[in-house]
Amino acid sequence: DWVMKDHIEEAVAKIREQVGDEEVILGLSGGVDSSVAAALIHRAIGDQLTCVFVDHGLLRLHEGDMVMDMFQGKLHAKVIRVDASDLFLGKLAGVSEPEQKRKIIGGLFVDVFKAEAAKLKAANAGHKGATFLAQGTIYPDVIESGGAKSKKAVTIKSHHNVGGLPEQLGLKLLEPLRDLFKDEVRELGVALGLPREMVYRHPFPGPGLGVRILGEVKKDYADLLRRADAIFIEELRAAIDPATGKTWYDLTSQAFTVFLPVKSVGVMGDGRTYDYVVALRAVQTSDFMTADWAELPYSLLKKVSGRIINEVRGINRVTYDVSSKPPATIEWE
Ligand code: XMP
Repeated sequence: DWVMKDHIEEAVAKIREQVGDEEVILGLSGGVDSSVAAALIHRAIGDQLTCVFVDHGLLRLHEGDMVMDMFQGKLHAKVIRVDASDLFLGKLAGVSEPEQKRKIIGGLFVDVFKAEAAKLKAANAGHKGATFLAQGTIYPDVIESGGAKSKKAVTIKSHHNVGGLPEQLGLKLLEPLRDLFKDEVRELGVALGLPREMVYRHPFPGPGLGVRILGEVKKDYADLLRRADAIFIEELRAAIDPATGKTWYDLTSQAFTVFLPVKSVGVMGDGRTYDYVVALRAVQTSDFMTADWAELPYSLLKKVSGRIINEVRGINRVTYDVSSKPPATIEWE
């Protein structure tokens, strides 16, 4: 609509004015906010923007390829894909405590991003390189970091945000979504030509599957989890609730699969199996501070469990998490 077009024109003009002929670097995660920021900044300054997409090996199935297809393939933005999965998985070996895992993942993320920024600078000799760091900070993030959250006495989970990164890199900040609420960011994304499916995606934590594999993270576990989770999400997107006409994906705020590194006994054909367990988690919430477990139809749960057990060798049992927040949290770690 024309209101949104005006909005885009205004935002584009503002970015051009702020950036001038300088260069911008942005960490693309595949999430809604960084994706919309990237699309908007690319619209404004084209090749003056370089996106860095760090694959930590803890992404969902085909996620890296989808991000590249969209930003490099369709939008023709400059994107550097860094496959850092060996580095991340190597440093995570033997570590099982959730907060320690978060610290390692967050720290490595900053290291890898800094190294890429330095490489970019070196590659353009005689060129000053990026002078701006773009971030998909949205209005609720601004409030959270200034007000309510800092008053809280205990940190339940340290979210890995890249706070302090601009100072460490000596870069100026470019945050074109700073005044927008999530809904507005989504509308903007659609108006910029991003697929609805990407823009209305459930949130995905920065540490990714790192906090959805309980305890020690292993590549084999991540591979099993990715496949099981893809089946769950595919079925949620396919299942339509007759009462609302919406898919169960859209009727839930967040849904995912958790890998439990314990084995249970099963039977398949005339044989005994002794394989891993996964838990399905689906919640409904408006603010993620409290959440109810979603009353998914049994027929849907049945289909998902049947498919996971039949299609993912190595998993022989599927459970459904019926805990609300509080006292449980949404993620298991
Ligand atoms: P919990 O598990 O605390 O999650 O109920 C609330 C929301 O926060 C997300 N979450 C994270 N996001 N880094 C993130 O970027 C993290 O370390 C992290 N831990 C939890 C979670 O997915 C949910 O949306």
